[in-house]
Amino acid sequence: MAVAAKGLEGIIANESSLSLVDGAEGILIYRGYHIDDLVAHTTFEEVMFLLHRGKLPNRAEFDAFKADLAAKREVPEQVIAFLKSAPKDAGPMDVLRTAVSMLGLFDTRGENQNRDLNEERALSICARIPLIVAYFHRARNGLDLPPVRTDLSEAAHFLYLITGEKPTPEATRTLDVAYILHADHGMNASTFSARVTIATLSDIYSAITSAIGTLKGPLHGGANEGVIHMLEEIGDEDKVDAYVAGKLERKEKIMGIGHRVYKVLDPRAPHLRKMAVELTKQLGEPKWIKMSERIAEIMFEKKGLNANVDFYSATVYYSLGIPTDLFTPIFAISRAAGWTAQVLEQLDDNRLYRPLTDYTGPMEQPPIKPIDERD
Ligand code: ACO
Repeated sequence: MAVAAKGLEGIIANESSLSLVDGAEGILIYRGYHIDDLVAHTTFEEVMFLLHRGKLPNRAEFDAFKADLAAKREVPEQVIAFLKSAPKDAGPMDVLRTAVSMLGLFDTRGENQNRDLNEERALSICARIPLIVAYFHRARNGLDLPPVRTDLSEAAHFLYLITGEKPTPEATRTLDVAYILHADHGMNASTFSARVTIATLSDIYSAITSAIGTLKGPLHGGANEGVIHMLEEIGDEDKVDAYVAGKLERKEKIMGIGHRVYKVLDPRAPHLRKMAVELTKQLGEPKWIKMSERIAEIMFEKKGLNANVDFYSATVYYSLGIPTDLFTPIFAISRAAGWTAQVLEQLDDNRLYRPLTDYTGPMEQPPIKPIDERD
């Protein structure tokens, strides 16, 4: 029997026309467009359209798509009641996972494999995830949700929902770029779990629920929260070297560093780094970025490892005033565009995922004794 590829490293699980992650060259492409060009010339909604519909929208398509997304900004009242009654100290990713699962209960249309219905569901899930995150955040702070607006972009609307105020164009564009950079990423763990779930011909809500549960872990999307906790723990630039040395000695991981696929710099990191530098300068708190730069430098020198997307996105979100435990939900907001597109693609040419296991247990045992006679 072939040797198991631990963590499925190097295994090609499926074909996809959505995103290319070139780990040797450090390139990320969505449907033929380089991530740098998308950041320079598009908005998150255009990227969503690209992922879902296979092309960049023209003006009329874009306006209709944005209006459709904005019109889907509503959550069933039973889900709102749950968000209000969830424990205030619950993890926002746990709440999001449960709420997205609940959305499935209120979609009574059945027909889990209907393409048109699933396209509609995909968009409505993308439109509702930010609302769910914001509703819970406001509710746990004893605040009502400001009325939903349909005139704001996805990024502006989320910032508006959590703060109650229309954000500046700069803050909006910063979050918009972060959304673009996180929208899709090949066969990452959460996307894989979404595809595994839908491939059983389950339903799209179950697939996205699986993805959210998978993204939450600190080895995946949860790392961005870990980065801020680490920076807070270190506290000062002159303590970085000793902190990293201690971690490496104890064989502990530094959050936001390393990647399974990228062997060179993660192409999303420089965009986030640039925004983090600008934002921390504006805030008058350059120590965060200085500490980050030093950590990245040591990790490259000592382990040959680079910063990944989570490393600088943490400082970007922190500088925007977003609470740390909403960092991973923000990742989910943008990655929902990719998850849903991947689910639709999986259904278009489906086959059940069913890999093998390299069984390492015994091949036989002594005859089974009655239960009361066993050791
Ligand atoms: N800190 C310290 N050492 C590390 C790190 C790190 N962040 N990442 C990898 N290494 C070391 C490992 O200790 C190991 O060293 P060894 O060979 O001397 O034992 C070697 O590099 C290989 O590490 P693995 O964990 O086997 O690599 P894998 O490909 O399985 O893991 C992962 C990739 C999970 C991203 C890993 O680099 C990691 O845990 N990073 C920190 C968490 C993180 O930032 N996750 C976000 C990833 S990006 C995303 O999901 C959005």
